[in-house]
Amino acid sequence: MTVNEAYLIYFSPTHTSKQIAEAIVHGTGIKNILPINVTQQAAGEIVIPASALAIIVVPVYGGHVAPLAMERLQGIRGLDTPTVLVVVYGNRAYEKALMELDAFAIPHGMKVIAGATFIGEHSYSTDEHPIAVGRPDDSDLALAAEFGKKIRKKIETADAMDTLYPVDVRAIKRPSQPFIPLFRFLRKVIKLRKSGTPLPRAPWVENESVCTHCGLCVVRCPAGAITKGDELHTDEAKCIKCCACVKACTKKARVYDTPFATLLSDCFKKQKQPQTIL
Ligand SMILES: Cc1cc2nc3c(=O)[nH]c(=O)nc-3n(C[C@H](O)[C@H](O)[C@H](O)COP(=O)(O)O)c2cc1C
Repeated sequence: MTVNEAYLIYFSPTHTSKQIAEAIVHGTGIKNILPINVTQQAAGEIVIPASALAIIVVPVYGGHVAPLAMERLQGIRGLDTPTVLVVVYGNRAYEKALMELDAFAIPHGMKVIAGATFIGEHSYSTDEHPIAVGRPDDSDLALAAEFGKKIRKKIETADAMDTLYPVDVRAIKRPSQPFIPLFRFLRKVIKLRKSGTPLPRAPWVENESVCTHCGLCVVRCPAGAITKGDELHTDEAKCIKCCACVKACTKKARVYDTPFATLLSDCFKKQKQPQTIL
């Protein structure tokens, strides 16, 4: 069997999922790539033919598929289309995310032929509290490309759609997690919650004089939480805390200083490794 086109579907406010998506599709060697970037808008009604490959890459928020990503994928359908599912997480855990993506894909007409979990720099990572800084790194991207190559091989070695076998993403190997730092993290989270310390509901502009009102934060915000001309204000009801505005700001005017960044940086130092199943 051969596939001549790939639908590259991703949601990626801080671009780590996008990097993984591009490395995988590059690895497949498929030249005709149709990018469907749902970061800023919903995919709309799209039917992906069985003759194409679909690759869906989304970030993990709170152990789930980022809710806005899930919402924006809803119009996509396959026709028993060979599909690759990938979740990208910030070195803590991905918990239910890959299974949720699978539970979306199968009833939407996709045949899940491969799955993976990759690590991306945590959206909350700062110079002071680094969390998985620089991920995906060269080795992650090489692995993603290699994964793409194996997907191509799996498709090519199948005689027909019937023998292109699906995978059960639940069988993917979970990364090893040392118990003591995990225990420390849970203890600190409980303490933080008990203390009643208010958690910031959205990034904010720390030093207003630094903001040049360039509007990049407005353009990058996937949720429409910042308005052109009113860049000093973030609509907390709309904000998804993805930190796209913080990472995009060339003046470093925007910050999201959450106590969780300290905890994540302290307790998840050991770098996890990507896992694949196909
Ligand atoms: C609101 C929010 C919740 C997150 N929850 C988790 C999580 O549960 N586990 C984890 O390891 N990383 C978590 N992350 C980190 C992201 O999964 C990670 O930074 C990912 O690489 C972001 O993808 P993107 O660069 O494509 O936006 C969270 C990030 C945000 C903004």
